[in-house]
Amino acid sequence: MKILLNWKQNGSFGAILNFKNNIKNGDLVLFAPFPYLGFLNSSKFQFGSQNVSQFENGAFTGEVGADILAEIGVKYCLVGHSERRQYFNETESQISSKIKQLKKNNIIPVLCVGENLEERKQGEFLEKIKQQMKVFESGVLLAYEPIWSIGTGIIPKMQEIQDMANFFFLNYGIEMFYGGSVNEKNAKEITKLNNIQGLLVGGASLDVEKVNIIINDTSRN
Ligand code: PGA
Repeated sequence: MKILLNWKQNGSFGAILNFKNNIKNGDLVLFAPFPYLGFLNSSKFQFGSQNVSQFENGAFTGEVGADILAEIGVKYCLVGHSERRQYFNETESQISSKIKQLKKNNIIPVLCVGENLEERKQGEFLEKIKQQMKVFESGVLLAYEPIWSIGTGIIPKMQEIQDMANFFFLNYGIEMFYGGSVNEKNAKEITKLNNIQGLLVGGASLDVEKVNIIINDTSRN
């Protein structure tokens, strides 16, 4: 099982040292803030970026382009995370441009999709997901992250996660990553489901001991 670790806007050189020293070997990708990316080379894990510019290099102050990321060894990049859609008004067209930039530079995009609680309750959330999936293309990994589960400690019922995994498998021919309040207690059960390629872990990824338990519990699945 591949485990994606999203540190979000957290971290320090101390945290990186601690992670490098104490993390077990695993199929891991650590998504750290930009300034730390040049310090993450390790034989134990791969690393990725949480964002990328939608543009080729040029006069775009404050942005970081895909070829810059590629040069420092970034192999994966998150796109369309719900926090970027919500707080930075990221649009489908920007997400699509980012995917193109990443692929051009041989960085694997991880597209994040998911519905909010209102949409889930109204029962038409699959329409929203289909809308978000319009930018999906081959060579992109897919993370399903229900917004109501991110950072809340609430996870969908196992059957609901299974239904989503089946939905992506049947309609797009892909195995999804599940994200939203994954921790060392629920990881094993989630990865036993069918058509799941791995997990995207936020809050719990900041605790190396929790990550080690997740690696252990999911390595044989
Ligand atoms: P969480 O975050 O594990 O803290 O819910 C997941 C994510 O936002 O990728």
